Amino acid sequence: MNQDQLKKATAEAALQYILPHLEKDMVIGIGTGSTARFFIDALAEYKDDFDGCVSSSEASTEQLKSHGIPVYDLNTVSELRFYIDGADETNEHLHLIKGGGAALTREKIIAAVAQEFICIADESKAVGVLGEFPLPVEVIPMARSYVGRELVKLGGDPAYREGVVTDNGNMILDVWNMKIMNPVELEQKINSIVGVVTNGLFANRPADVLLLGTKDGVKTLT
Ligand code: 5RP
Repeated sequence: MNQDQLKKATAEAALQYILPHLEKDMVIGIGTGSTARFFIDALAEYKDDFDGCVSSSEASTEQLKSHGIPVYDLNTVSELRFYIDGADETNEHLHLIKGGGAALTREKIIAAVAQEFICIADESKAVGVLGEFPLPVEVIPMARSYVGRELVKLGGDPAYREGVVTDNGNMILDVWNMKIMNPVELEQKINSIVGVVTNGLFANRPADVLLLGTKDGVKTLT
């Protein structure tokens, strides 16, 4: 199986995971990226079995709407049973790096609200130590240089993601060469830099379940 086939198999496993729990009034949180895209396509067949979704990006919103699935403002939703999303890296504790698609802030908000965060990823995303994938940091535009200097003090090597404006109108700095030994602490430290909206470490609120697509099948890790 190639990487896309593994992503698709993982997305289908997530659908099987949530199907027994679907209820007519249920709203589901949806992530962003190619694995999430496979999930949205699979979910569409069951659109009459739940109410609708909240979405972490304009791209996912557009895809959901193209399937006729209602998309709600998170402020109008009091309960989210599931949030399904991909990741750029995961460690054995289900701490994640996310934000390769620049949707990290909305993703983190939805993850905070959701009762159960199901991460869907192919096996290339599983690592021993997070940080080989550059850590995305969403930054208020006027703070870009200041935040960059602060990230250098933390040992990173930030690079401005050229030509990318987030759905929130901000910029992304990708931080290279970080060997992230303590993801919980680093997530808090980076978030405390003035001008940072959020960073792509999902460690203080990790995934609850990881469905990992491998050549030997989809493994469920908790
Ligand atoms: C977007 C994300 C994605 O979940 C992450 O980049 C993984 O993407 P893909 O499923 O395409 O490999 O965090 O901001």
